[in-house]
Amino acid sequence: MGFQSADPEGILVGGVLMDKIIINGGHRLCGKVRVSAAKNSVLPIIAASLLCPKQSLLEDIPFLNDVYVICDVLTSLGAKTVLSAEDNSIMINCENIESVEPPLDLVTRMRASFYVMGPLLSRFGKVKISQPGGCNIGTRPIDLHLKGFSAMGAEISLDHGFVEASCKKLKGAKIYLDFPSVGATENIMMAAVLAEGETIIQNAAEEPEIVDLSTFLNKMGANITGAGTDKIRIEGVKDLKSTVHQVIPDRIEAGTYMVAAAITNGDIIIENVIMEHIRPVIAKLQEAGIKVIEGNNRIRVYSDGIIKPVDIKTLPYPGFPTDMQAQFMALMSRANGTSIITETVFENRFMHITELNRMGANIKAEGRSAVVEGTGRLTGAKVRATDLRAGAALVLAGLAAEGETEIQEIHHLDRGYYNIVEKLKSVGGDIARG
Ligand code: EPZ
Repeated sequence: MGFQSADPEGILVGGVLMDKIIINGGHRLCGKVRVSAAKNSVLPIIAASLLCPKQSLLEDIPFLNDVYVICDVLTSLGAKTVLSAEDNSIMINCENIESVEPPLDLVTRMRASFYVMGPLLSRFGKVKISQPGGCNIGTRPIDLHLKGFSAMGAEISLDHGFVEASCKKLKGAKIYLDFPSVGATENIMMAAVLAEGETIIQNAAEEPEIVDLSTFLNKMGANITGAGTDKIRIEGVKDLKSTVHQVIPDRIEAGTYMVAAAITNGDIIIENVIMEHIRPVIAKLQEAGIKVIEGNNRIRVYSDGIIKPVDIKTLPYPGFPTDMQAQFMALMSRANGTSIITETVFENRFMHITELNRMGANIKAEGRSAVVEGTGRLTGAKVRATDLRAGAALVLAGLAAEGETEIQEIHHLDRGYYNIVEKLKSVGGDIARG
């Protein structure tokens, strides 16, 4: 049974579009929150299910808008996807795929839909898909994805905003990525699974989500080694089998709640974390004078109110994650001094500066760096979420600000934070959808 995606423009309650969040700030957040499975792991893994003409079961999945969209992409191709509300599992059966042309509106709605290209090309030898297009944080090109597919023998044509690729049988190849692109690494890795012979991806992305995808594929019978390093080797196989998989915790959601404790002088225990995945965030919070106590799969973050300015430079994993840049900028807005935040991964990921400045921050963009003059205090205001992580930054700022903050266009946030209002309320946040 398929199901309709949640409305991308926000949560409908009784037919009323609830696309804003109201926060009364100034409360210390204290208590426990549990991190959900990683959005950026779930999405490629659901796409990877297309490789196997059998059933896969994914357990404990966050029912995010983006998850609905990628499942809709698969059902539009002929797959069966069933969500179970009892245990948040997703059953995916890709036995009867009838199309290799994902619908335009779904692909343009969510960039990660492009991850179906590799699996479709590998299993069926052809695919026609809309170019995913850019978004608020950058042009988001796909040249490295296409470089990999053509190196494996695919004929590729770009026409009227679509990409068509065909190849009777992909052949293993040695592919160097000019940038360690997460999506390109994942798409090429998936394409190589059913190719003939060996594929080597050099300068591959090393993110934990790549490792999780590789684990899922190997459980299905693929032969992948080196995921998590800059050199991944994939030996093509003939067929794949059903599997069950538990996705890794979301390191960016974890980091976001860690900053929530820090920015509100709070004390939160964040459960379901893999310490290695959040090392850069732990290091930078400690440099800022925030207390961090590590457990085996939980972490306690608390602050005595002093926030020291620290400089941040975003880098591919294991560097400081670009997906935590906006949240850290909100924290540095309250620091007692000046910090420099440099974004090296995306060319336009400073849309949150204007909105944070409306809340009393004092931030100036200078090329790929932002100079943050910590003001110590923030004040509530009416602001707008421009993208997923910018929305998270505004929620964090609103929780720390004096007075009321109204954040509009909150549908961006619902793409990547499962039950964020309920989780923040559970640790004392005065927050509600409006
Ligand atoms: C993934 O996006 C994540 N999304 C992003 O998370 C994350 O910010 C990004 O990786 C970097 O870690 C998902 O996993 C669904 P990239 P992706 O390809 O794969 C350039 C979030 O907030 N590039 O690693 O699109 C590109 O322009 C989202 O959860 C090329 O030049 O990121 C960018 O500058 C946002 N050519 C850089 O690489 C290509 O063919 C990083 O992009 C591909 C990418």
